[in-house]
Amino acid sequence: MEKKRVLVSGGAGFIGSHVTVELIEAGYDVLVADDMSNCDSTCFEGVKKITGRDDIPFVKMTFCDAAATEKLFADWKIDAVIHFAAFKAVGESVAEPLKYYKNNLESFMNVIEAARKRGCNILFSSSATVYGEPDILPVTEQSPRMPSTSPYGNTKQMCEDILRDSVKAYSSIKGIALRYFNPIGAHPSALIGELPRGVPNNLVPFITQTAIGKRECLSIFGNDYPTPDGTCQRDYIDIVDLARAHVYAVRRMLDGKMEQDYEIYNVGTGTPLSVLELVKAFEKVNNLKLNYKFAPRRDGDVTAIWADPSLANEKLGWKATRTTEETLAAAWAWEKHLAGK
Ligand code: UD1
Repeated sequence: MEKKRVLVSGGAGFIGSHVTVELIEAGYDVLVADDMSNCDSTCFEGVKKITGRDDIPFVKMTFCDAAATEKLFADWKIDAVIHFAAFKAVGESVAEPLKYYKNNLESFMNVIEAARKRGCNILFSSSATVYGEPDILPVTEQSPRMPSTSPYGNTKQMCEDILRDSVKAYSSIKGIALRYFNPIGAHPSALIGELPRGVPNNLVPFITQTAIGKRECLSIFGNDYPTPDGTCQRDYIDIVDLARAHVYAVRRMLDGKMEQDYEIYNVGTGTPLSVLELVKAFEKVNNLKLNYKFAPRRDGDVTAIWADPSLANEKLGWKATRTTEETLAAAWAWEKHLAGK
């Protein structure tokens, strides 16, 4: 039987590269497209090494270019598209909102436009940020979406709505939105992982860079939150587990198993971890001491959020399997790989 081909937009980045590996290992053909505006070729080269496939097609392009997007879909037979290509820095989005609205909305609309003409189903990379500061934990897909504190978060909500409305209007397509909690870690091969530019905003890259000596000290933002140890709680999801959720979702779309034309799934572990618990777990599993201090709260942070992943468990047949220890060991192995150690 002919293999199905999945287009991965933004496939050279952190999540896209891990998803590409899992799709290839699950037997799909993958077409990677990326404008390389926020990454270099490290992860794409890593993907080729892990999969032993030197021939993964790659197109350098921006999906903000409607003609280029149309041409890509005309040139290749694409059965499903996973759309990652977007800007993702929360702080930058506050400073440069138009950059975020233009890029993240326009690229997605161009993808939907090209996909709907060909009956190509769409998977959108959404975020738990759409829940804002939830009143009831854990959050289910029915939990209300809260007003976002950043243009980045707004683009995630808007893209969800654009997909929902498009799927409703155009009978040729179906859509899935996956709401990621906090993706962390790296591939067990240590050949692909997170490559933040400049000072990392996210917790785990900051931890690994501090451990390797690139940063002096980790600031834990706030220890006076109403949580068991006073630090924020999140649902940290291993990047390989997260990537596998995409394979299950693509399979559901391509095998005609969707029960609704637009489906939403939380992709998390269901278990909260505090910043302090995560730091301690990192120290323990990697047998090192991390230089950290408590600092004031960071603007825009929510106190606590974690997923109820039971819908994804039940409907996608997906479940997070990797332990926090495995994940944090992988994150550390990746940082050492980058440092050539
Ligand atoms: C943020 C985004 C989320 C996005 C995710 C990507 C918001 C509000 N958050 O989540 O949409 O999907 O990044 O991974 O839009 N922390 C420290 N010190 C640091 C860095 C972080 O203490 O140097 C703490 C934060 O206060 C927070 C936790 O670590 O409690 C996790 O922070 P981070 O990794 O930045 O993720 P989120 O803010 O949860």
